[in-house]
Amino acid sequence: MNIRLHALNILLQVVQKNHSLDGAIDRYLQQHSAGSTFADKQVGMLKELCYGVMRWWPSLQALEHSLLDKPLAVKHQDLSILIWLGLYQLEYMRTADHAAVSETVSCAKLIKKQWAKGLLNAVLRRFQREREAILATLKSDLVASTGHPQGLLEAVRQAWPDNWRNMVEQNNLRAPMSLRVNAQLISREEYLVQLDVANISARAHPHVSSAVSLEQACPVELLPGFDRGLVSVQDAAAQLAAGLLKPEAGQRVVDACAAPGGKTCHLLECQTDIDLIAIDAKAWRLTRLAENLQRLNLSCQVQVADASDLENWWDGQPVDRILLDAPCSGSGVIRRHPDIKWSRRNVDIDPLLVTQRTLLSNLWKALAPGGVLLYATCSILPDENQKQIERFLAETDNAEESPLDVDWGCPMSHGRTILPGESDMDGFYYARLRKVRA
Ligand SMILES: C[S@@+](CC[C@H](N)C(=O)[O-])C[C@H]1O[C@@H](n2cnc3c(N)ncnc32)[C@H](O)[C@@H]1O
Repeated sequence: MNIRLHALNILLQVVQKNHSLDGAIDRYLQQHSAGSTFADKQVGMLKELCYGVMRWWPSLQALEHSLLDKPLAVKHQDLSILIWLGLYQLEYMRTADHAAVSETVSCAKLIKKQWAKGLLNAVLRRFQREREAILATLKSDLVASTGHPQGLLEAVRQAWPDNWRNMVEQNNLRAPMSLRVNAQLISREEYLVQLDVANISARAHPHVSSAVSLEQACPVELLPGFDRGLVSVQDAAAQLAAGLLKPEAGQRVVDACAAPGGKTCHLLECQTDIDLIAIDAKAWRLTRLAENLQRLNLSCQVQVADASDLENWWDGQPVDRILLDAPCSGSGVIRRHPDIKWSRRNVDIDPLLVTQRTLLSNLWKALAPGGVLLYATCSILPDENQKQIERFLAETDNAEESPLDVDWGCPMSHGRTILPGESDMDGFYYARLRKVRA
């Protein structure tokens, strides 16, 4: 089995069909589990290759261009990706050099481009021979040295002129694994003891009372009581939402962009006695929400709908709390989803800005006087965050900001932004709004 070929097949789904890397890997492994099952070690290598190439493709592409006399035609994107895979192994992995080169070159025949064997071999061997000199020429090239595509890099630099270097470094690290302890079933202290007994090193998160940070990622099957719903995997920044919205017993709550349901489940774990509707526009994503509810033994109404189309889901009864975890660029979670560097390489977020604005202004109509709406994104870009809130407040005379009195994140003109890596958290944005009258 040539794992590089499988990695190429998955990466082509991301690069040519705009699939998410997580989804492409899951589907690929499912499709191939019937015939030749991958061994755990092979799955580990497959993921390392795919995530690694997506994390570093801007640098690998810069290397590719400096190693070729002329760029490969678009129809040979598969060969470019094979070059990236080869270079990634040589530069970032501990694979023996000869295996990295020969196994990668042998993929040319498997994709019926036997003629390209010589080319792949020459490019990878030249990198081995001239590595120092080639890397030196790329040192001043910001795209190559930061591993960020030009458009995304510019957007981050413009948004965070004093912090962008740290931010791009954080984006290139692997995200730590964080857990959310289910307060309905066990305290965090008790769960930390269970982890210790299972020989899993972990510590309590300093800012988030439900969160535990693991020293090393581990398969969920090894987590004590995972099947029984004692814990879920969720970044600590995402776990802040439930405490900021703080629904009270008996209240009507809407989670407007709910799937796959991390925050929905957390809201219910914190307060089971609420009338919660979880809405999402994508039915297939709601299947995952249903699975999460089932594992955690929780329940709520689940509705497939465009949440901004009130006629489709709202019964006209005012809602006390709304969570709007808006669709966004994902620019705060690049370390967890490095394929965002590909999907957002041109940072064309205008359609997202329109969706966020429409969701915010339409959902507001369903909120009861005195009610609270929490606006959240996993973005660090001001246009999706404080500028949306600024505009909304200027246009809406019955809305006021409800300040976040907390010890995390950077205060913005409105709301707060968590930069990726702060206390191990993903990049996130929160702003809380209150409806002051009907
Ligand atoms: C950031 S994700 C939500 C993550 C989720 N809150 C969680 O914690 O697991 C954004 C979600 O918004 C959904 N979405 C996008 N546009 C929508 C719309 N107009 N109405 C409802 N859901 C929408 C997407 O399908 C996606 O699942």
